[in-house]
Amino acid sequence: MNTKLIKIKDLADEDGIAEAAALLREGKLVAIPTETVYGLAANAFDGAAVSAVFAAKGRPADNPLIVHIADLSMLSELTPEIPEKAMTLAEKYWPGPLTMIFRKSGKIPDEVSAGLYTVAVRFPSNPVASAIISACRLPLAAPSANLSGSPSPTTAEHVVNDLFGRVDGIVMSGNCEVGVESTVISMVSDPPRLLRPGAVTLEMLRSAIGEVEVDPAVLSKLEEGTKAASPGMKYKHYAPKTRVIMIEGEGEAFCEYVNKNAGKDAAALCFLEDADKLCCKTVTYGGQDDGEEQARELFNALRKIDETGADIAFAHAPSKSGVGLAVYNRLIRAAAFKVVKV
Ligand code: TXA
Ligand code: MG
Repeated sequence: MNTKLIKIKDLADEDGIAEAAALLREGKLVAIPTETVYGLAANAFDGAAVSAVFAAKGRPADNPLIVHIADLSMLSELTPEIPEKAMTLAEKYWPGPLTMIFRKSGKIPDEVSAGLYTVAVRFPSNPVASAIISACRLPLAAPSANLSGSPSPTTAEHVVNDLFGRVDGIVMSGNCEVGVESTVISMVSDPPRLLRPGAVTLEMLRSAIGEVEVDPAVLSKLEEGTKAASPGMKYKHYAPKTRVIMIEGEGEAFCEYVNKNAGKDAAALCFLEDADKLCCKTVTYGGQDDGEEQARELFNALRKIDETGADIAFAHAPSKSGVGLAVYNRLIRAAAFKVVKV
């Protein structure tokens, strides 16, 4: 397939925005930037276009997609029922890295919701994303624009590496400032339930609406045969080709463990503070007390781990507070839940 690379630096690139929107209106697939990660977009009302998204990514058909809007008024087409707590969250955190799950309207094709009775909706803050959605005058279904199973793309180059030749267009824009995917919260249960942590943190959600439950799949592996509230959480995810083991402990204990156990084909995925204390190859992902920086750099660091040629990587676990919970949730999946406490 011929893939068009469409450069859009900012809103002044009106031709690029019009070109991306025209492709999407024709039922084509276009990767677009958002503030979290790049997404692979299609018209959310076009079941065939949405099926093509699953094919391009190699995504399991039972894993539903998030629908992206650029105006609160678009929400009423997607759901018959907006709970009051959802309005509170929308006022506070939209546009932004927050996805809410609602009962779905009859306009949502089954391909989007993977047969569930619900739909996930997000209002991204990235201006290029908003401009493309507005120019389409359509909600866009968009999963992360990576091949299924590999780390989510935080730069246009990541998308090109994964999807060139498999999609109709890739918008070449800046790097994603958040770096981990949106927070996902289900508003169909009360209290609402956190399904995937992100930059709108658990602390922020609770301060806005009170009690929020945390789905067990956020921090631990689902038992074989249990039904996942968020189907995406049951798959192996974000995994580089290198085998990753997560090491939980203070800086000194981490370095001591790695220096003792790392053979010549090992690498460390560590914080800036660890790097010069280690005697193996290192890839850093931010400062140990800077969760935002860790989030921004994690997926690029996971891709860089593969470039080191190491066959095993020891990853220093982040703290679980604030956005750290999101970083921890992604890293433990990259490590296929293998954790060593030191
Ligand atoms: O930041 C993001 O959310 C990015 C950008 C592109 O917006 N998108 C993204 O999409 O991360 P994706 O498809 O990679 O992850 C969507 C997650 C999956 O874990 C999926 O199972 C869950 O949201 N999800 C979608 N619809 C759902 C629903 N109706 N009920 C429960 N979980 C749902
Ligand atoms: Mg994804």
